[in-house]
Amino acid sequence: MRDRALWRIRPYIRPFRKHIVFVVVSAILSISASLMIPLIAKTVIDGPITDGDNGAVVPWFLLAVGLAVFEASLTFTRRIMMARLSTTIEANIRTDLYAHLQKLDIGFHDQWQSGQLLSRATTDLGIIRRFAGFGAIFLVILTAEVLVIFGLLLTLHFWLGLLVVSISVPILTLSRRFERQYFTYVRRIQDLQGDLTTTIEEGARGIRVLKAFGRGPRAFEQFDEQATELFNTHISRIRLHTRFVWLLTAIPDITLAVILLLGALVVGSGGLSVGGLVAMVTYVLILVWPIEALAWILALAEEAETSAGRVWEVFDTEPVIADDENSLHLDVAEGHVRLEGVSFRYPTGDREVLDGVDLVIEPGQTLALVGATGSGKTTIATLLARLYDPTAGRITLDGTDVRDLSVESLRRQIGFAFEEPTLFSASVKENLLMGHPGATDADVDWALDAAQASFVESLPWGLDTRIGEQGLSLSGGQRQRLALARAIISRPRLLILDDPLSALDVHTEAKVEQAIRPVLRECTSLIVVHRASTVALADRVAFLDGGKIVDTGTHHDLLERNAAYKAILSQTPDESGAQGSKATRVGDGA
Ligand SMILES: Nc1ncnc2c1ncn2[C@@H]1O[C@H](COP(=O)(O)OP(=O)(O)OP(=O)(O)O)[C@@H](O)[C@H]1O
Ligand SMILES: [Mg+2]
Repeated sequence: MRDRALWRIRPYIRPFRKHIVFVVVSAILSISASLMIPLIAKTVIDGPITDGDNGAVVPWFLLAVGLAVFEASLTFTRRIMMARLSTTIEANIRTDLYAHLQKLDIGFHDQWQSGQLLSRATTDLGIIRRFAGFGAIFLVILTAEVLVIFGLLLTLHFWLGLLVVSISVPILTLSRRFERQYFTYVRRIQDLQGDLTTTIEEGARGIRVLKAFGRGPRAFEQFDEQATELFNTHISRIRLHTRFVWLLTAIPDITLAVILLLGALVVGSGGLSVGGLVAMVTYVLILVWPIEALAWILALAEEAETSAGRVWEVFDTEPVIADDENSLHLDVAEGHVRLEGVSFRYPTGDREVLDGVDLVIEPGQTLALVGATGSGKTTIATLLARLYDPTAGRITLDGTDVRDLSVESLRRQIGFAFEEPTLFSASVKENLLMGHPGATDADVDWALDAAQASFVESLPWGLDTRIGEQGLSLSGGQRQRLALARAIISRPRLLILDDPLSALDVHTEAKVEQAIRPVLRECTSLIVVHRASTVALADRVAFLDGGKIVDTGTHHDLLERNAAYKAILSQTPDESGAQGSKATRVGDGA
């Protein structure tokens, strides 16, 4: 089972089959070259040196130098090739992972800490790269080297050779035990790293709140706790690894001493030449490094295996909201929206947020959705864009269940301005084009005009000004108007505005309402509204309470007949709200 996660990077390696064959062949050649040197030494000692013929040493010397140069150049080429290969593999997996994350539903992202995703896309892939690039190849090569040395030792002197070979038994047993313990530590470390990344990320993003509330020290404490646990786990892991390496070095070293002692006896009794003993001792010395390296590679393999497990946990999550072969393509929607008995519970939630919502929006109509805070207005808006699927009931667009439409063609009909106007670290224009990549300059001007966002002209570089995290900070009202412009720029058939004017002063709000009216006439729209003044934009109002639409009608009708509705919107003295005192948000205490 555990072997499988790492095994699954096979498709990424397959295109490089030829390179890998080259790498393995070249490695075997260079190892053979280096393993020939002790044999040359044996020949020189038992031949020219014993015979006192110094001139005969020269050709052997030249052969040894030639082999060394040959081995070094092969190693050089191989390293460059492996580094390229493993970096490419890592980059390809990361690209696929990012694409997969984009495909996954909001429900998935609700349940996963961003730091966990971040550490999987960076640290874990880095570990897999190290293993795929060096570990895996070395595992094969070193094992081969060890086996060849065993063979050579057995040929040089069978019983002494057998003694060396027999040390592989305790080493193998130890390795298996080590692997099992190491796995536990590594998984724990990688999970802790994910948690720590989340904490650091939240600390950076929430820095304003932390400072304003003086919560810096508490946040630091939390960070410190996690960092200390990570540190301690690391230390335990290193301790285990060091113990293992110690044993792996000690066993061959002791073997070496034994071989020297027994070897001397065997040479004395004429069972082995001096050169033969030198060669055997050299081989046992050479053996120490591959065995030590194998310990390191086994550890790396364990890390890569857990990393691969963590990465494939993400890959194995299938998007629920996705097309199938029967998905219908919707060209241009007329804009007839219908919710039939829609119930919804968040994947992480413990209760139904919506409980049998029935709602109709006719083509071209503007419907205001009113309800107390937390009543589920945003939830309805996100269901329309199919960011989630209802748990019961259905939503249709032009009579077709939205689940039967291709996601791409459904989303293309929709413009969405979210409650939280997220802008990206990019220019103003790039942010707007996110709503419609093919928009012309005229479209951009039009959208900015309709959203009353002419303030961008006075930004230092106009439309090219970078905003978002790495750029100029905009005010809440400015961000909201850009988000509104982004929602309408594609002239969508279905426009969803979640409390789009909440951050504006009454005066600017009135101006935006004026400018947005013609846009609303062109499409079907759902506007989540908290103020009586914004309700004026709508043809009809739906009142959401207790997870159901309890009343629909015009604003006037509802004000007259529905006391709860009136209570929610009654703080505004003037319904248009454009003049008079600042309108009050629901939940500000009615
Ligand atoms: N991602 C989520 N996971 C779990 N529960 C959620 C999630 N988002 C919202 N909820 C819960 O669903 C309920 C409805 O939330 P929703 O955001 O739809 O309310 P709302 O009417 O838009 O409120 P507001 O007027 O404050 O914007 C709330 O009780 C909220 O706690
Ligand atoms: Mg909301």
